[in-house]
Amino acid sequence: MKVAIDCDDAGLPLKPIIVNHLRSLGVETVDLDLTAQTKVDYPDIGYNLAKRIAAKEYDRGILICGTGLGMAMVANKVEGVFAGTCHDTFSAERLCKSNNAQVLTMGARVIGPELAKSIVSAWVKSEFEGGRSQPKVDRMRELEGQEVAKSKSTGAPVVPKAC
Ligand code: RB5
Repeated sequence: MKVAIDCDDAGLPLKPIIVNHLRSLGVETVDLDLTAQTKVDYPDIGYNLAKRIAAKEYDRGILICGTGLGMAMVANKVEGVFAGTCHDTFSAERLCKSNNAQVLTMGARVIGPELAKSIVSAWVKSEFEGGRSQPKVDRMRELEGQEVAKSKSTGAPVVPKAC
């Protein structure tokens, strides 16, 4: 499994701990480190990683910000990518087993490094189970396809403006 990881300024203390942990588990890990190249906030960092997942450069991704929420929101805007914020090991397992999501997001201001490492261990071990979850995941993809087709035909932006 090849995993890409990145974070914003709020995630900087946690990211190296997770990189080392992934490598100690034998997971091939690439730190995209977009923040080191240019000063950008979580929307562009999350978008960059999610586009690379969609392009199948990496199998999975981890995004860390203050809460994990903004990173999940932006990653879910990319067609073909499912992301979820997990701050417990059960959710991290279900993110893969039930939801077939490729991207895990965590909040460095919400959890400590030891819990974050346990979450990552649970996530790495988990694979999509199919079965009763398959039609639900298929339906999410179908709805996503409808939204993309609609925005292409109307010229409306894929990312709508907030209220
Ligand atoms: C800081 O920019 C903070 O808003 C960010 O790290 C994240 O928590 C957003 O969801």
